[in-house]
Amino acid sequence: MDSTIAVIGTGYVGLTTGTCLAHLGHTVICVDVDVEKVAGLQRGEVPILEQGLDELVQEGVRSGNLTFTTDTPAAVKVSEFVYLCVPTPQGEDGSADLSYIQEAATQIGPHLQPEAIVVNKSTVPVGSTRVVGAALGRGDVYVVSNPEFLREGSAVQDFLHPDRVVIGCDDQAAAVRLASLYLSLAAPLMVTDPASAETIKYASNAFLATKISYVNAVAAVCEAVGADVNDVVLGMGYDKRIGHEFLRPGPGWGGSCFPKDTRALIHIAEEAGYDFDLLKGVVTVNDEQFARVANKVVEAAGGSVAGKTIAVWGLTFKARTDDLRESPSLEVIKRLVALGAHVRAFDPAVHRQLEGIEVVDDPYGACDGAEVLVVLTEWDEFRWLDFDKVAAALRQPAVVDARNLLDRQSLRRRGFTVAGIGRL
Ligand SMILES: NC(=O)c1ccc[n+]([C@@H]2O[C@H](COP(=O)([O-])OP(=O)(O)OC[C@H]3O[C@@H](n4cnc5c(N)ncnc54)[C@H](O)[C@@H]3O)[C@@H](O)[C@H]2O)c1
Repeated sequence: MDSTIAVIGTGYVGLTTGTCLAHLGHTVICVDVDVEKVAGLQRGEVPILEQGLDELVQEGVRSGNLTFTTDTPAAVKVSEFVYLCVPTPQGEDGSADLSYIQEAATQIGPHLQPEAIVVNKSTVPVGSTRVVGAALGRGDVYVVSNPEFLREGSAVQDFLHPDRVVIGCDDQAAAVRLASLYLSLAAPLMVTDPASAETIKYASNAFLATKISYVNAVAAVCEAVGADVNDVVLGMGYDKRIGHEFLRPGPGWGGSCFPKDTRALIHIAEEAGYDFDLLKGVVTVNDEQFARVANKVVEAAGGSVAGKTIAVWGLTFKARTDDLRESPSLEVIKRLVALGAHVRAFDPAVHRQLEGIEVVDDPYGACDGAEVLVVLTEWDEFRWLDFDKVAAALRQPAVVDARNLLDRQSLRRRGFTVAGIGRL
């Protein structure tokens, strides 16, 4: 049965969620406080780069299933389900800042229909379902935790073909009502209590961050003993208990979720009386990885980057997104700039200037007169560029490939010195 749904917060998660629910046949009203974003969406302009999203937004707008507004009360009044997709940034002490969630809950509370279901899709610590309930100030509605696991870059695909749907709710009937929205997705559906649902999200993200820190630590060992981390992870991955997924060495993890979610879980554990030392180590390895990559660049530049131009390919936190939040690339660049480098960068999805970085629209132009080229984001198109042209543009043919992306044999044949991660 088709439902009417309001989505509060039309960012990466809210826009994907709202658009995909409209695609599944529901009537969706996406709400945001950002007037310009809403006006753009009303004109059919999708503000983020996300594969397949543009087409589905146009489809939803054409069919009338998908609309955009800044009018929260009007959207909430007509909706049986209200999704909260607002930010939960890192607070000063590492905990999740719930002020956006509380504000949104306070705004929607008076306008909810009796029996409405408020769906918490934002990543929130244990106990937030109760916090939202209190801010709503309503005894006749339900609050359900429904964490989102989509990955930026494949958000639409992930929403429509999820590995699982998790619903955290103490009321069976409300859980079944929410579950009915996802029945056509053919995904494993798990109903649990709110605290478990909230913990599943944090524990999943922290585990994924742990995998990356682990492989980066293994890469450091590989460098020291003369092993090749690419072969090592390939060999490890054939063990079904380990698998090949998410075991790629690189410049460290980042993005809008992993940094804040790992720190939030450390904080949640601390508050609960458990010292999550393992996860603290995961964060430390990551911070060290940014510095390790910056050091590789300094080495490739002959011992100092002061006063030198460094070319960077890739600024976003991963390929196929335009999201720069907490990007490892920016972390490495920050360290190079602090050492006196002038950084000239190219990224297929970034077309604006950033503080302290000269952003150009041409990968070869980025290399012009630069001492070293550093690859920091795994955009596939970097592999297929003309490396004779790159060599001619650079002051010396030196590459630091922090994603082990490029064909280093072919680069070496062209006279490049190449430094990767975890391999000679
Ligand atoms: N980005 C991801 O890959 C991802 C994946 C899973 C979960 N999450 C979680 O989802 C939540 C949202 O993340 P995001 O990346 O979509 O954030 P975002 O910053 O891209 O979007 C949030 C939107 O909410 C709007 N907003 C803030 N307060 C509002 C209010 N009171 N009313 C209406 N709109 C309001 C903002 O203007 C913004 O457009 C976070 O808790 C995040 O941890 C994110």
